Amino acid sequence: MVTLLSGRDTWSTQPVESAGIRSVRLSDGPHGLRVQEEGGDPLGFLPSLPATCFPPAVALGSSWDPGVVAKVGEALGREAQAAGIDIILGPGVNIKRSPLCGRNFEYLSEDPLLSGVLGAAYVKGVQSTGVGASVKHFAANNQETDRMRVSADVDERTLREIYLPAFERVVKEAEPATVMCAYNKINGVYGSENRWLLTEVLRRQWGFTGAVVSDWGAVHDPAAAVRAGVDLEMPGTRGRSVRELMAAVVAGELDEAVVSESAERVRRLGRYGLGETNAVDPDAHHAIAREAAAACTVLLKNEDVLPLSPDARIVVIGEFARTPRFQGGGSSHVNATRIDSFLGAAEEHARGPIEFAAGYDVDGDGDPRPLREAAVTAAAACEVAVIFVGLGEADESEGFDRTSIDLPEAQTALIRAVSTVSAKTVVVLSHGGVVGLEGWHDDVDAIVDGFLLGQAGGSALAEIIYGVVNPSGKLAETIPMRLEDTAAFTNFPGEQGHVVYGERLLVGYRSVATTGVAVRYPFGHGLSYTTFRVRRFQVSVTGSDRVTVSVAVENVGDRDGAHVIQIYVDASSRGFVQRPARELRAFAKVFIPAGRSADLELALDRRAFAYWDTELSDWCVTPGEYRVILGRDALTSDAEETVILGGDHIVRELTLRSTVQEWFDHPVVGPILLETLESKLLFGLAQPGTLRVLGSLPMQKIVNLVGEGIPPGAIESLMAMTVHSEK
Ligand code: BGC
Repeated sequence: MVTLLSGRDTWSTQPVESAGIRSVRLSDGPHGLRVQEEGGDPLGFLPSLPATCFPPAVALGSSWDPGVVAKVGEALGREAQAAGIDIILGPGVNIKRSPLCGRNFEYLSEDPLLSGVLGAAYVKGVQSTGVGASVKHFAANNQETDRMRVSADVDERTLREIYLPAFERVVKEAEPATVMCAYNKINGVYGSENRWLLTEVLRRQWGFTGAVVSDWGAVHDPAAAVRAGVDLEMPGTRGRSVRELMAAVVAGELDEAVVSESAERVRRLGRYGLGETNAVDPDAHHAIAREAAAACTVLLKNEDVLPLSPDARIVVIGEFARTPRFQGGGSSHVNATRIDSFLGAAEEHARGPIEFAAGYDVDGDGDPRPLREAAVTAAAACEVAVIFVGLGEADESEGFDRTSIDLPEAQTALIRAVSTVSAKTVVVLSHGGVVGLEGWHDDVDAIVDGFLLGQAGGSALAEIIYGVVNPSGKLAETIPMRLEDTAAFTNFPGEQGHVVYGERLLVGYRSVATTGVAVRYPFGHGLSYTTFRVRRFQVSVTGSDRVTVSVAVENVGDRDGAHVIQIYVDASSRGFVQRPARELRAFAKVFIPAGRSADLELALDRRAFAYWDTELSDWCVTPGEYRVILGRDALTSDAEETVILGGDHIVRELTLRSTVQEWFDHPVVGPILLETLESKLLFGLAQPGTLRVLGSLPMQKIVNLVGEGIPPGAIESLMAMTVHSEK
């Protein structure tokens, strides 16, 4: 059965016909199928068969809508089933640690809750069709630079609170067929050899029962990978790995029982892809892609210009309006069934003719001035200039990281020149990683963030811009003023084989909410064509470590629209360990017709208030005050309440290495110490001035100094009171 542990070729597992075990076919993922003809080529570079290109994760994340994401997942599952694919390689739920990561377009968010909820929705959607999903890349795969070797050096608390929870939620809530281990090392150990991660955390603590598949080419030592918890190495190595695994078994370096368990997990993958196969209707799937794209679009700024009237005399400027940028490069690249351009779609909404000027050359070749001048002339004669700008395919991709968040200079010069002459200017952005808006933001009247919206992005943008759809997307990633303001800036992408996650928990909005650094638009920001008012916000404590939030929101405008309720917790007053000043702890997107209200209850459980305690190796809720905030975005509060939680009654063990301060602060021993301060020296120690100076001394030093001043056995009996902890 060793033969099952390594793939047959690039995209399929090894069958064992004599044992009735079939070959299982896998394919990228995440936002459209990349199915190659039988077998494919070893590097997976050859073109794939046509498939619907749904909005990539950068856009889906901004939908904040598990319903939309599940619908895309379901459509992907149907396409996979029809193409004979059993497992789709997605979703990608790695955290956007730095805006520079070349693969950020394939990831959902800088926030673990949003990534986890949407990732789980994707998996449930795909798997509802019988096709399996593969959540990837486990874990701390947050950059492309040196991605096959770099060690992500991350402390355990940061892993548990930022980089693992999205995987944890997907595994626990959606039971994906497979988890794909990452290329990189995590604290010095390859993702494919990391037993702590793959076996201790993933299987034992989270209860994962599916198969762990390697990222393509991530296995270095097949026996070490199987021992750590990898079940299936992909792609196959034409028999080399199987021979090595057999030799390891014979040499007693690999337990046969471990091989059998892994083989059994690979065999069980044969359950996927057995659903009913129906022909896919490309038009129906294109419509799903369009609906999703519209739900993802974020209206960043709007000063009395959008939505456009069908009678507005507009000029559309920018090559991306005619030749859309709608997906990223690398293993997720889809051969789209068709592509909608904004220019083509806008003609269906506008009553009059639409003028077009290319404005720039996407490749940046040649002198940009003639193109710019033609655009300026056209803009001067119209009521509204709609300028499409963004990053080209060559600017960002899997395989490398960006070095800047700037738009090409020719494009920013174009925006400035056009906005000077145009009565109204609307900018539409197309990009996978965040782009800066500085240098032109204040010159324009509206900004629409279209990220990468998939093959129907052009028509979805036209629906937003002409008001057929009311925008409801919210940023899943903060837009900084400057790259230098992002928390990972000084530690990205690392050096000499290591990248140190020195900013720890302060990723994205967690950083700026804590430090007060100004941003252009925070996580959670997004405008609507209607106005929502909060009518009620009540927080009820429902236990020592949980609350229920009750919210009523009214749509007081004259258009129907969807609103996202965002609940953040500020635990920063709990000084025992560092806590970010804002953390998203619950959210819900709700459609509210004009003039109507929505009432919602959201439960915040223990994890919403907990931090990972490295001494206890467990989640822990500190007793005391917490602010529960209804945020319009991560930095703007619409309403808030402070609650007091009983938290966990933790009795930490005291030893002679514990400091004097820790002895006095101890909830059980501290008060006893103070009451029984017979020794003059201990009494002196408890004085605030002395404690400040001597509080950091280990108790052992005091015992050494005043040994006979302390009654025999007194210290030992105090320590004995602390040997167990309870919650
Ligand atoms: C990527 C994975 C992808 C796999 C198969 C790897 O290079 O990291 O995300 O699923 O190739 O194409």
